Amino acid sequence: MRNFNENTITDAVLERIANAADPRIKQVSEALVRHLHAFVREVRPTQKEWEQGIDFLTRTGQMCDDKRQEFILLSDTLGVSMLVDAINHPLPDGATETTVLGPFFVQAALEKQLGEDISGGMKGDPLIVTGTVATPDGRPIPGATIDVWHSNNDGYYDVQQLDDIGHLAMRARFLADDNGGFSFWSIKPAAYPVPHDGPVGQMLEAQGRHPWRPAHVHFMIAAPGYETLVTYVFEDGDKYLDSDVVFGVKDSLIREYKPREPGLAPDGWQMNVPYYYLNYDFGLKPAANSAT
Ligand code: BEZ
Ligand code: FE
Repeated sequence: MRNFNENTITDAVLERIANAADPRIKQVSEALVRHLHAFVREVRPTQKEWEQGIDFLTRTGQMCDDKRQEFILLSDTLGVSMLVDAINHPLPDGATETTVLGPFFVQAALEKQLGEDISGGMKGDPLIVTGTVATPDGRPIPGATIDVWHSNNDGYYDVQQLDDIGHLAMRARFLADDNGGFSFWSIKPAAYPVPHDGPVGQMLEAQGRHPWRPAHVHFMIAAPGYETLVTYVFEDGDKYLDSDVVFGVKDSLIREYKPREPGLAPDGWQMNVPYYYLNYDFGLKPAANSAT
């Protein structure tokens, strides 16, 4: 077969991949070709625009290393990560909604005792975070592993400033107590822009978009027999709740970070400065084929 034109090339490519041995590879390849060709037919790029597109993807790849994943950021900012998340996390009532992991999770976060301060000496307004981990119908899950991480009051994560701070901070791993409960102290996080000094930042600017995420605390909660929950709790009232650059905000994940005057804190600590209080009760979805 030869002499393909605008009207015949798509079928020719589809025919060429029709014998793929793996049915899933065949399905994905066919859909990719159909949608890519439809995109090009709709946009009708000039040769120069097509080269610019290739250059954008090339620079996106070149920006990636062991600390920076520009392709995931591209997926996040185009809403694809949240679409994949939505497809893969249908939830029963009572299970906490999910969001994208983001680039700032660190496997090696220190295990801390419940109630500890995880701010790592960072300056900011004190914040106590309390909550529970339970099944969708409210049965506690003792011993659940709770990873938490968040930005500082300037909107930076420890890993973005490691050369200055010299150690990890504002992140830790806890184990839920016998009632599925947990609490810890840290500092109040701030809204922050996603890394926007690369191709994705240029794309956002060209699209007339800002790079900001509303303030949030990340949680990753795991327990045997349950799907691992990746989520955040956003600060009510944040000005970016309706324009989160990665489309991750859900009403059920917004809570007031309540301002409190000095006095007895919810965990019994005597606070002599004002602080903030955040509470969230999480529900874990039982894993498929689990007897829980
Ligand atoms: C974050 O919340 O840490 C994040 C998520 C997606 C992209 C960039 C940052
Ligand atoms: Fe974040």
